[in-house]
Order: sequence, then structure tokens, then C-alpha cells
Amino acid sequence: MKLCVVGSGYVGLVTAACMAEVGHHVVGIDIDTAKVDLLNQGGIPIYEPGLEALVEKNRQQGRLKFTTDYALCADAEAIFIAVGTPPDEDGSADLQYVLAAAKSAAAYMPDGCLVVVKSTVPVGTTDKVAQEVSGQMAKRQVAAYVAFNPEFLREGNAVGDFLKPDRIVVGVEEEHSQALLKRMYAAFNRNRDRMIFMDRRSAELTKYAANCMLATRISFMNDLSRLCEVVDGDIESVRRGIGSDERIGQHFLYAGIGYGGSCFPKDVQALLATGEQYGVDLPVVAAAWQANKIQRQWFIDRLMGVVQAQGVKRAAIWGLAFKPGTDDMREAPSIDVVNALLDAGVEVVACDPAAVKEAQHIWGDKIGYEDAPEAACVAADVLVVLTEWLMFREPDWAVVAKKMAGKHVFDARNLYVQDELKEHGLSCVSIGRGKSCL
Ligand SMILES: NC(=O)c1ccc[n+]([C@@H]2O[C@H](COP(=O)([O-])OP(=O)(O)OC[C@H]3O[C@@H](n4cnc5c(N)ncnc54)[C@H](O)[C@@H]3O)[C@@H](O)[C@H]2O)c1
Repeated sequence: MKLCVVGSGYVGLVTAACMAEVGHHVVGIDIDTAKVDLLNQGGIPIYEPGLEALVEKNRQQGRLKFTTDYALCADAEAIFIAVGTPPDEDGSADLQYVLAAAKSAAAYMPDGCLVVVKSTVPVGTTDKVAQEVSGQMAKRQVAAYVAFNPEFLREGNAVGDFLKPDRIVVGVEEEHSQALLKRMYAAFNRNRDRMIFMDRRSAELTKYAANCMLATRISFMNDLSRLCEVVDGDIESVRRGIGSDERIGQHFLYAGIGYGGSCFPKDVQALLATGEQYGVDLPVVAAAWQANKIQRQWFIDRLMGVVQAQGVKRAAIWGLAFKPGTDDMREAPSIDVVNALLDAGVEVVACDPAAVKEAQHIWGDKIGYEDAPEAACVAADVLVVLTEWLMFREPDWAVVAKKMAGKHVFDARNLYVQDELKEHGLSCVSIGRGKSCL
């Protein structure tokens, strides 16, 4: 099939490459000229394992190209819209990019083309896109179909998630769109039927419901972690104890510094904004948001308490990305932590295997960067571990302790055994692991 994917970011680029990989002919459209040039030269603008090779292979084989020119969607059977939906000032999703993309595409789309909204959008947005598209196309006396197909890929595992999805949720209004989407996804849907068809509004809500449910699980565990510290329980034991109940399951039960990233914070806020818009209270979702803010501040207050009490001058940071496997720093906890340290006049040296370029956009040379974790620790009074990259999992504590000037380790991901660090004269503050965390 001939497809277009509008937006070449984390979702659009993965969609374009994976659709090309199974044999479709795909044009990726983005308004960012530098991004398009880079892609056409064989580079990729983001860090995502396996993606660069997939893009390059399909580009070389002639099934994938990139452009800023919407005219290239003139013969597309379907057009995905995968542009950003960042939070507006009031937390609701800013739809200007989605609507602009729909308008630009509608100027060229052929008669009968299917527009597939893939961006995460509040309930009712696909209807607005349909209005925009039909208004534009009526001028040319042609018509299009519009569907909603949320994306559930996880950054850091995006290619695998797209090629082998758990489910493919589709909101459609007509048989024709359903048949087209079945054909488009046939290669990803062979050994069992993963496609779940529903109306467009339910599909829009499904995406928010998934992210808000996961965010709620994390916030629930973070609440309990603070209780564990006071009552001398261990949140890791509690996690294992409840995760083995199959009604609860193992995933998304890790206490930490609170969720960040480009999806959970903005989607929780956007669902709350939708509730407000329609006059419906969503107290569980509101609590998931509030608890996250409390948890992040809880960690920062504890860190800053030591910074002030000990006169900390230099801090090492392990991990800047909001999670391992990505260079994405949108809403990353590292932003708040590093800013608090800088505000207190502390010198910061960071190590991250993927996100340094992103961090340089934020702080430039206000902080230092090192490739090796141990090098970041030289003369540091505190070490703060914020992302659970594999490279930070088993440090040589003897080396770290020797390099550091101070002895404080703040483990925001519960990676370490406190007693092990003690053997090297280091103190470890982790999350929810009994009174020792206080
Ligand atoms: N990142 C994720 O893990 C993830 C997962 C599932 C769903 N989503 C959702 O997918 C959507 C895209 O997210 P992302 O992380 O890929 O965003 P992104 O910011 O990485 O990429 C968006 C791209 O769209 C381009 N763009 C903006 N306006 C455009 C226009 N009018 N025409 C053409 N290109 C345009 C931008 O230049 C950018 O390259 C969001 O709604 C997000 O919530 C993201």
C-alpha cells in the first residue's frame, strides 16, 4: 500500500519504518527541514534501539523516503498523523499541530483517502479532524475517511512493540476504513487477531485510560513507599508480595522518583482537563497526578536537605533520560533535580549514554558531562542516580567511593543494596526501604 506518515518523531518515525519493513511504500512528512535532511542522509534524529538500521535499510530499498512537501501524499491510500500533542497552559492537549497537519494533508489527499490519527488526542478530536478534512476536501469536490488508531509503543523498545504489538486498537466509523486498516496491519496480525475495533471516541479514551491506569499504579506504589519509610517496611518486599497476585501483576509497580516522560504527565493532565471540560470529577486520576508531584518533591527535598546540611559543592548525576533506552528528556525528573542543585550553587557533572545532546539543549555548559560513570564522580560530594540504565546497575563501589569526596548516594530507582555501599563507607538513600531511608 502507499502510505504517508506525518510527523517523524518517536511515533511517526517508528510507524513509517515498520510499515515500510513489511512492504508498504511510505513517505514520511515533517515540517522540520533539518530533521528531514538528516533522515535523507541516513541519520536519525532520536535515540531508539534498532531504529536507525531499519530506517536505513528501507530507505536504501526504496520503500521509505522523507520530505517536507505535503504534495507527496497526493497518491496515498492512507495518511497517519503522528505529530505532537503537548500540554497547553491549562494542561489540556494542544491540538494545533494535529489540526494543522490534517489541513495541510487535505490540500493534496486523493479522493477516498483514509486519515488515521495516531497522536494521542482527547475525546472528540478525531471528529474535529474529520470536519477539517472534509471542509478542505469539499473545495476540491473529493472526500476522505477518518479513523483513530492510538499508539502503545514504549520508547526504548519501540521497534519491537510496533512489529509485535499486544493489540491494535482502532476507532472507525465505516466498514471501508476497517477493511483498509486490516489490510495495512495484516503483516502484524498473522498468528492471532490483535485488532480491536470500536467507535472513535472509545478509542480516544482507551489510550488515555491505558496511560492513566499505569500512572496510577506507579503513584499508588510511591504513596506506599513513603509510608514504608515511616513504619519501617520495605516497598520492594511489598511489590513482590502483591505483584505475584495475578489480578495485580508485576508491571508498573516500582516505587521511585515519580513518572516523567513525554506521555504519562501530559496524558494524565489532559484526561483531567477533559473531565473538567465535561463537568466530571476524576478523583483517582487527580490523585495519580498529585501523588507524582509529591513524590518528586519528596526526593528533591531530601536531597537538598543533605546539600544544605553538608555544604555540598559538587554533585554527580547518573542518568538524565526519563527512562533507560531513550534520549527523551521531556518531563524527566533529572530536569527538576539538576535545576534544584544549580539553584543552590552546586556544581553538577552528569553521565548518560544517550541523552547528553538533549541535556545540552537545556543546560548547555552550565553542567559538565562525562562518558564514564566513575569519571562523573570525581570530587563529588553526592551521587544521584536517576535513570536505571544497565551501565549504572553494578558499579564498582570501591572505585566510586575512592573518586568521590563525600559519601552520599541518592538512589531514585532502588537499584542498590544499602549494606553493600556501607562496606565502602557510602551511605545510600533509596525509596521506601524502611527507616534507613529517613
Ligand atoms: N513518544 C512516545 O512514546 C509516544 C507513545 C505513544 C503515543 N505518543 C503520542 O504520539 C504523538 C507524537 O509523539 P512523539 O513523541 O512522536 O512526538 P515528537 O515531538 O517526537 O514528534 C512530533 C513530530 O511532528 C512534527 N510536526 C509537528 N507539526 C507538524 C506538521 N504540521 N506537519 C508535519 N510534521 C509536524 C515535529 O516536527 C516532530 O518531528 C503524541 O500525541 C504522543 O502523545 C507518543
